[in-house]
Amino acid sequence: MKKIFAIIIILISIFFILLFFTSKKKVVNNKNTNIQENKLDYYNYRNEKRYQNFSKLFPNLSKEEIITRVNIGLDQKPYTNTKESPYLNKDYILVNKYTYLPETYVPNNLEDLDISYARSGMKLVKNAKNMLEKMITEAKNDGYIIRIISSYRSYSYQNKLYNEYVQTDGSENADTYSARPGFSEHQTGLCVDVDDGKTLYTSFEQSPSFIWMQKNSYKYGFILRYPKGKEDITMYTYEAWHYRYVGKKIAEYIHEHNITLDEYYVKFIAKN
Ligand code: DAL
Ligand code: ZN
Repeated sequence: MKKIFAIIIILISIFFILLFFTSKKKVVNNKNTNIQENKLDYYNYRNEKRYQNFSKLFPNLSKEEIITRVNIGLDQKPYTNTKESPYLNKDYILVNKYTYLPETYVPNNLEDLDISYARSGMKLVKNAKNMLEKMITEAKNDGYIIRIISSYRSYSYQNKLYNEYVQTDGSENADTYSARPGFSEHQTGLCVDVDDGKTLYTSFEQSPSFIWMQKNSYKYGFILRYPKGKEDITMYTYEAWHYRYVGKKIAEYIHEHNITLDEYYVKFIAKN
């Protein structure tokens, strides 16, 4: 009788030991799942169907790329499903073919650029202007010329510019290199088009000044906004001359991780 009792006790103990280990394993698994979810905390459950459809179209993209691209809006045609930019007057404001600025928006603290490095009447937001001047001076000390050929553009100026391109080139072509009014980040007063003072801006990529910018612009908070190889994310052809001020911290991250502002924005700025 004693023996049977002992066996029952042993069996019950084994049962509880097994139960203990199985439940522990579950906790570990939950932990792993949470880490995974934290990594992708820009996942938006409202976009689930869109993630599924987009991953069927692009099976080679990773889960992270699918979520990032759908959140940018890239599963939909440019200029459809657009929304107003919620971060007016912030260095990290995003303006692209899915996020626009109001027609009446003029950034705060616009200041004139000096004619020693820019054309007369050009303006930029104060912080961006200060860092731009530091960058131009440092480039000059190293022996490289950076000149500003375009900076802040009002809604109405962009409207005129875009329509001129449409007249000469047709809207399909114009859309590959010119933003529609309200959709140009030139209206933020945070970006510039540059040349080297010798050749046309469209040849800037071939200039030593471009190499200097590639190495150094992020140290002053400027990023190349429409890089080569990222056209399917920015939705613009490569522009070696267009630099956007985002502040030092963000510029460093974007430079180090070789991503676009659009990707950085949906990962770290946008609220789902
Ligand atoms: N060229 C850039 C995309 C603009 O028009 O704002
Ligand atoms: Zn530009």
